[in-house]
Amino acid sequence: MPSSATFTIKPIADLIREEMAGGVWIDPCCGANSPAAIRNDLNPNVEAEHHVEALAFLKQFADSSVDGVLFDPPYSPRQVAECYKQFGLSTMRGELTKATFWSDQKDEIARIVKPEGKVICCGWNSMGIGINRGFLMTRVLLVPHGGNHNDTIVTVETKVQWKFDPMASLPPTLAEAVKRMFND
Ligand SMILES: C[S@@+](CC[C@H](N)C(=O)[O-])C[C@H]1O[C@@H](n2cnc3c(N)ncnc32)[C@H](O)[C@@H]1O
Repeated sequence: MPSSATFTIKPIADLIREEMAGGVWIDPCCGANSPAAIRNDLNPNVEAEHHVEALAFLKQFADSSVDGVLFDPPYSPRQVAECYKQFGLSTMRGELTKATFWSDQKDEIARIVKPEGKVICCGWNSMGIGINRGFLMTRVLLVPHGGNHNDTIVTVETKVQWKFDPMASLPPTLAEAVKRMFND
C-alpha cells in the first residue's frame, strides 16, 4: 500500500538521507515527516514553521538563497481539491487545481535555489523541475506499491548554471537560417 507519509517509505527515506547535503533546505508541503530546516504546510495541525499556501511560502525567499528543496505536494488535481476541502478552503471553482498549481511552484523553486543546489521531487511523474528551468536530473527512484496503485516517482536534480538552448547546438549558419525563418 502507498503511504501518504512519503518520507517514511524506506527507499525514499534512504534517498533523502543520501542526497540531502548541508545548507538550508526548505519544504513547502512538508507533512509530518520532513527533515527540512524550514517547513510549511497548509494543514495548521502539522508541526511546521509556516502554515500558508506553498506558493506564498516560496515567494518569501530571495533569488538563489536556499541550498535545497524537498517538493512533495499533492500528486493530482483531486488530491489538491481534497486538501483544500479538508481545511475549509475554496479551490476558486477548480482554478487552484489546474496544472499551474505545480508549474507556478516549480518556477519559484527554480528561482530560489542556489546554483549547484538540489531539488528532490516526489509525484506520479518524473518531470521534476526540468531542464527548461535550468535543472539537470541526476537520479530517479521508482517505488512500486503493488496492485493497481500508482508508483511513487522520486527525482533528484541539481541547478546548473546554463539553460537548455537548442539553437546553441546548431552550426551558426543553420541557426541564422532558423532565426530568419521565424522572423519572416
Ligand atoms: C504528499 S503530502 C506530504 C507528505 C510528507 N512529505 C511526508 O512524508 O509526510 C502533501 C502535503 O501538502 C500539504 N498541502 C496541500 N496543498 C498545499 C498547499 N497549497 N500549500 C501548502 N501545503 C499544502 C498537505 O497538507 C500535505 O501535508
